[in-house]
Amino acid sequence: MVLVNNGFLSLPGNYLFSEIARKVESYKNLHPDADLIRMGIGDVTRPLAKAVTDAMHEAVSDMSVAETFKGYGPEQGYGFLIEKIIENDFVQRGIEIAPDEVFISDGCKSDMGNIGDLFARENTVAVTDPVYPVYVDSNVMGGRAGSLLKSGKWNNIIYLPCTAENGFIPDLPESPVDIIYLCFPNNPTGTTLKKNELKKWVDYALEAGSLILFDAAYEAFISEEDVPHSIYEIEGAKNCAIEFRSFSKSAGFTGIRCGYTVVPKNITAGSASHGKGNLNSLWRRRQATKFNGVSYVTQKAAEAVYSDEGRKQCKDNIDYYMENAAIIRDCLKSVGLEVFGGINAPYIWFRTPGKRDSWGFFERMLSEIQVIGTPGVGFGPSGEGYMRLTAFGSKEDTVVAMSRFKSWNI
Ligand code: MLT
Repeated sequence: MVLVNNGFLSLPGNYLFSEIARKVESYKNLHPDADLIRMGIGDVTRPLAKAVTDAMHEAVSDMSVAETFKGYGPEQGYGFLIEKIIENDFVQRGIEIAPDEVFISDGCKSDMGNIGDLFARENTVAVTDPVYPVYVDSNVMGGRAGSLLKSGKWNNIIYLPCTAENGFIPDLPESPVDIIYLCFPNNPTGTTLKKNELKKWVDYALEAGSLILFDAAYEAFISEEDVPHSIYEIEGAKNCAIEFRSFSKSAGFTGIRCGYTVVPKNITAGSASHGKGNLNSLWRRRQATKFNGVSYVTQKAAEAVYSDEGRKQCKDNIDYYMENAAIIRDCLKSVGLEVFGGINAPYIWFRTPGKRDSWGFFERMLSEIQVIGTPGVGFGPSGEGYMRLTAFGSKEDTVVAMSRFKSWNI
């Protein structure tokens, strides 16, 4: 008999954003004329930068000529893109990264989900709470999460609450952990850590021999000084952290798919039977076996993000979204809500009035003002009583959604 991976069977219900899509679809079926405004999933709406689409057109032309046609690309990604990444994202911030430490992929979500392949089931995993659901769900699939408790927590996962009460700054774990997921600027709360706060985590990991999986997908939205764009700005991080980056939000690639992961060559992990494993070599082996790389056209598109025009045009889109974020923040505050995030990230996190349950508030927003948000509890137990809105919509929709909030008897 075929035996299934029990991890999959123990996952409750649907993936968060699939569940929201299902609820919205059933609402739409009952109310086909409803003018819904989507501020749930963080999906971009601005078209790609012209520099990017020009590069894609050129790359398509390359593919139509025998001399420039490309089949399988280099396993880790094309050198032309890796070079640009290193120069722009790291060297300019005083960080040295070697070309064979960068792995181009189809996005941060896949890499954050797949990285678990490298780690034994026995590892103890810590997540900030609320948290991007991929980190927890992929550990459930990998057999590291244990069982789901009534509280909504998995008994083998250590949850580090991030709430208004602690300023969304997680405390260091009280018991030893092996793998720590950090995402800053944070999805979902839109808040972030200053350099000295992130340093505490790097110091902790170095001392405890833990590994930090650092999701920096939203670094392009940072507007304040002293907020690290990369964990490698912190001394010692190259000995204890893997960093995940994405072009999805910074350059509008949610539909194109491209990101990259930095796995420093000096990070090792133990094994009871085989001595130490080098994570860079293991990730290379994993990717070479299970992944055939990102298309040439896509990597050319990503390269263009770093051209002068590409940088300017992508920055214009980021500014556009952050103007939406300011509109959302101001409006929600003006109606008396407690509002967080939206300054260094495109997400606005707010407390439901009277700390009402998140799914109940989601339903009310949907049925009473036809605005779709994401229930905070969908990101973890500490998200209960909060909602998340995204700034990735059009300005017009954002303004209309906020006017609905203003005239709503919350
Ligand atoms: C979100 O809404 O949290 C993100 O869009 C999800 C993702 O990036 O996969």
